[in-house]
Amino acid sequence: MQVVHTIPDLRQALDKARRANLSVGLVPTMGCLHEGHLSLIKKAKAESDFVVVSIFVNPTQFGPHEDFSKYPRTMADDQALCEKVGADLIFAPSVENFYASNASTWVDVEKISDGLCGTFRPGHFRGVATVVAMLFNAVQPQVAVFGRKDLQQLAVIQRMVRDLHFPVKIIGHETVREPNGIALSSRNRYLTPEELKKAAAIPAALQVAKKLLHAGEKQSSVILAAVRDHLATEPSIALQYLAIVNRESMEVMETVSAGHCAIALACHLGKTRLIDNLDL
Ligand code: PAF
Repeated sequence: MQVVHTIPDLRQALDKARRANLSVGLVPTMGCLHEGHLSLIKKAKAESDFVVVSIFVNPTQFGPHEDFSKYPRTMADDQALCEKVGADLIFAPSVENFYASNASTWVDVEKISDGLCGTFRPGHFRGVATVVAMLFNAVQPQVAVFGRKDLQQLAVIQRMVRDLHFPVKIIGHETVREPNGIALSSRNRYLTPEELKKAAAIPAALQVAKKLLHAGEKQSSVILAAVRDHLATEPSIALQYLAIVNRESMEVMETVSAGHCAIALACHLGKTRLIDNLDL
């Protein structure tokens, strides 16, 4: 497995793969890889011949008071994990190598970026869409795999690909969870062992929504109230938002139309911000 840090080296490695008629799959990451990322890489392996994993902590998707500087950087471990699951190439540019010093071009995916996380992290999805567009241009993959844990991110990227005609198939891959239901996330590293136990209330609360839906409840307000009640049993969880939305448009839904909706939340547990969602 090769590791490259610049666009010319990336292009050279990809030219070789393309000359051998290999289809290219991309898994964009910010590193600090865990089993969730590995399942994305395995999925990309199943869908393409040559898998590129990008590892880039993207400064433009962090707000001024967010965790950009403390975001865990674990390149040696990440490299070993990529090797283990059969990635073919790591692209790990420096900020200086990837963004022009006076970069002034942004991809803004309007409306769909505004609610949910967009409300609390202004500019976040502009940073995500821009860096993903840059990665698509650099790698030119046929397939790109993203985790469904980042529900709104996936919707934003799907919309961008549709609107800008990127010739890439986007695959949303299922969330990998701990045995107690917690969604794997690089930010789980910030949690204390005590907080990790408490975080199990998050997926448990989302399951309440599913149970109510199965019992015939379709009113979002009723479902959301029950989920909120469940979350309130763990007082250290401070809810930031909780909503039932259409999975593609991120529009808030007053009634659940099964198969098209998801329940999504963001909360703080101690100093850590966590997100999760469940298809309904
Ligand atoms: O999901 C992530 O890790 C990031 O938002 C992504 C897609 C790699 C863009 O920086």
